[in-house]
Amino acid sequence: MNTKRAIDLTINGKRYQRQVEVRMTLADFLRHEIGLTGTHLGCEHGVCGTCTILFNGEAVRSCLLLAVQADGSHLKTVEGLRTGEELTPLQLAFHDQHALQCGFCTPGMLVTAYALLKENPRPTEAQIREAISGNICRCTGYQPIIKAISQAAERTEIRSQKSEGSYRRSPDN
Ligand code: FES
Ligand code: FES
Repeated sequence: MNTKRAIDLTINGKRYQRQVEVRMTLADFLRHEIGLTGTHLGCEHGVCGTCTILFNGEAVRSCLLLAVQADGSHLKTVEGLRTGEELTPLQLAFHDQHALQCGFCTPGMLVTAYALLKENPRPTEAQIREAISGNICRCTGYQPIIKAISQAAERTEIRSQKSEGSYRRSPDN
């Protein structure tokens, strides 16, 4: 019996066509078939949030999806958060605020924060706490992460206001 299916999807702006086992999770597909190991696996049952990616713009847990479910979709992983060599304001803010220690939760935190700032460019602290409430960090105590997301929001807003005639607010640039 053929247990593989063809899928055709876009990841971080690049198209991929692959044959995948129907039981392969999306997280395993990203890590083992595509080599995007920035997406981490912790609990593998939807609790820790470290496998968070953007699925057609929505933050999802890639350990809870099958690769075949991503056929035709557009994904963004932590590797796709920046397009050039420079760190984004969000990544810089994590650095500035010491918002990571071991770094295991960081990809999921960054993707979750990115999704929040896309949706809500000036979140309150309560909204930040709510947004990352599904992401577990065993090292930082969360406070530096909250400060980093807040800093990224402020810097992005300031940059947007400074850029000529553009009020586009994006955690990308
Ligand atoms: S590995 Fe997916 S939520 Fe923990
Ligand atoms: S930095 Fe270690 S789990 Fe968050």
